[in-house]
Amino acid sequence: MAEEVIKIKGGQRLNGKVQISGAKNSAVAIIPATILAEQQVTIDGLPEILDVETLVSLLGDLNIKTSLKGDTLEVNPKEIENVQLPNNKVESLRASYYMMGAMLGRFKKCVIGLPGGCPLGPRPIDQHIKGFKALGAKIDESSTSSMKIEAEELKGANIYLDVVSVGATINIMLAAVRAQGQTVIENAAKEPEVVDVANFLNSLGAKVSGAGTSSLKITGVPELGGSRHSVIPDRIEAGTYMCIAAACGDNIELNNIIAKHIDPLTVKLRELGIDVDIDEDSVRISSSEPYQSVHIKTLVYPGFATDLQQPITPLLFLAEGPSFVKDTIYPKRFKHVDELRKMGADISVDQGTATIKPSKLKGAEVYASDLRAGACLIVAALLAEGVTTIHNVRHIYRGYSGIVEKLRELGADVWTEEV
Ligand code: EPU
Repeated sequence: MAEEVIKIKGGQRLNGKVQISGAKNSAVAIIPATILAEQQVTIDGLPEILDVETLVSLLGDLNIKTSLKGDTLEVNPKEIENVQLPNNKVESLRASYYMMGAMLGRFKKCVIGLPGGCPLGPRPIDQHIKGFKALGAKIDESSTSSMKIEAEELKGANIYLDVVSVGATINIMLAAVRAQGQTVIENAAKEPEVVDVANFLNSLGAKVSGAGTSSLKITGVPELGGSRHSVIPDRIEAGTYMCIAAACGDNIELNNIIAKHIDPLTVKLRELGIDVDIDEDSVRISSSEPYQSVHIKTLVYPGFATDLQQPITPLLFLAEGPSFVKDTIYPKRFKHVDELRKMGADISVDQGTATIKPSKLKGAEVYASDLRAGACLIVAALLAEGVTTIHNVRHIYRGYSGIVEKLRELGADVWTEEV
């Protein structure tokens, strides 16, 4: 079977502007959240990525009328039906778990396959389940391929999350907006995507307060209307292009960013010795190696994002000494390491911490194991001498809108081939 690969001839200096797309991790929650609406909804600023296409197609499976044109989605939920969603689609992405909270809120029951997504090590959903149960749902997990979630009534509850989870916070919020009475989620995730979803739900008529803090309050309402909402810019896509600019850019400008959301990365790049010229909604960066070595520890927001530890890693080969990256969120998110070694990198990993030493990268044949590993390989390939062939690029297309075109516009020598 033919497979598309991305090929990059490294060593070019890049310059120009990049328009950052809407946030994947907001979009993949807001699209399922439209199930809760009873009137027409329009979502603007969606990234043009595979995960968005899959979720829109899942809405269609529920007999919701949709029209996706460019970055705008129109949703008409008037003829919605509660049916079991096709397992193959549900399994193709992580965020399909948001169908659970949204369908539970809307119908009080659903039967749904288990979510898939990037293989980052164990990714349990016990906190989602704990939240649904606290709201009154009964959960049948006896099948290995699907789950039945059902509630006679959804009743507001006080829920304390044992781990700070973006997915669990949003999923519980989706169900709780239609529960009777008040729900409080303590130890909630504070990520900007949680705030964006809360704003979307409020635009439909929900009563969510405290989003962006660790205590979320949701007062249930009997029905939700329609609205028009614009998705926030993707801080991880922006961060990835900031790493690209720091690797090989001559004054690259990124537009459509929210400076505050990328603060944790900006601070780290400055520590490396990179001049980051940032204002509220744009940022300019050039490369200026050699860099200082740094220690990076991923944490929940506003700490350094786990989703950026892989894309920033190639920059650390340009530092004057060893750097260390510890991922406390996903200690096994290091599948990029073997691929970087194929490119000549001096990198090792032990107990959730990578040690990265100064290295000169060479083009090689490499495989993207997951979305951000793919982004890491792109940054590495741009830096490397010679041609790099990246396989498994569907992972990259799941999350980066028009990445080949955006790189080409910056002057990168990048192309795709069927092999
Ligand atoms: N966790 C549990 N139990 C749960 C839920 C999470 O133990 O019920 C643990 C996880 O194993 C992990 C930590 O809690 O160690 C945080 O997980 P979280 O639930 O926050 O992750 P997620 O919601 O599944 C989202 C993003 C990820 C991103 C993480 C962390 C989406 C669709 N995915 O995942 O994005 O890495 O938050 O910020 O929003 C990506 O974009 O490449 C990506 C993987």
